[in-house]
Amino acid sequence: MSKKRSIKSPKDSMIEMREMVMPNHTNPQGTIFGGVVMSWVDIAAAMCASRHAEKPVVTVHIADIDFKAPIKVGNHVLIKASLNYVGKTSMIVGVKVESENPYTGKSVKTTKAYLTFVALDEDGQPTVIPDLKPETQDEIRRYENAKKRVEAKKALSKTLK
Ligand SMILES: CC(C)(COP(=O)(O)OP(=O)(O)OC[C@H]1O[C@@H](n2cnc3c(N)ncnc32)[C@H](O)[C@@H]1OP(=O)(O)O)[C@@H](O)C(=O)NCCC(=O)NCCS
Repeated sequence: MSKKRSIKSPKDSMIEMREMVMPNHTNPQGTIFGGVVMSWVDIAAAMCASRHAEKPVVTVHIADIDFKAPIKVGNHVLIKASLNYVGKTSMIVGVKVESENPYTGKSVKTTKAYLTFVALDEDGQPTVIPDLKPETQDEIRRYENAKKRVEAKKALSKTLK
């Protein structure tokens, strides 16, 4: 008989982490290199996904990553990751990035992205994860939007050769 899936809230797995932009993080323009931001986004999202799954996870898809504003050396970078949606073995994590001037406290939204992870069992095979119960209006909106993104990706794959 199959075991009943447990159910968790997005609050159970959310992650907030901070970094500071150092000179070795920058591009030739002297602002942060996008690959560094992508790495921090992937790390925060992976921690969130593995907290939800209670298993090791791997990234299988990154969608809609937007860079809206540059980040200067010395600024703080706040990365927030929360579970938006789950399938059977996969889950979508939404990540928001803000830059913060530590002297004025002024913050600017700079990046957002949606990452899909798969939880793996001891043999490296996809394994069933807990279900997700969105509770607040924001959590429900994120869940519905992520579901539309999954359906849109499936529909697009069918039309592409
Ligand atoms: C994770 C991995 C073992 C899954 O194998 P797979 O053959 O794709 O497994 P499945 O087809 O059974 O898919 C498992 C789940 O992932 C989802 N999935 C797989 N690839 C996906 C993709 N590119 N985008 C979105 N969802 C994806 C499936 O829809 C399924 O979801 P569900 O169980 O919630 O319904 C395999 O894709 C892998 O090893 N990928 C490399 C991961 C990695 O190394 N990442 C690090 C960066 S390179």
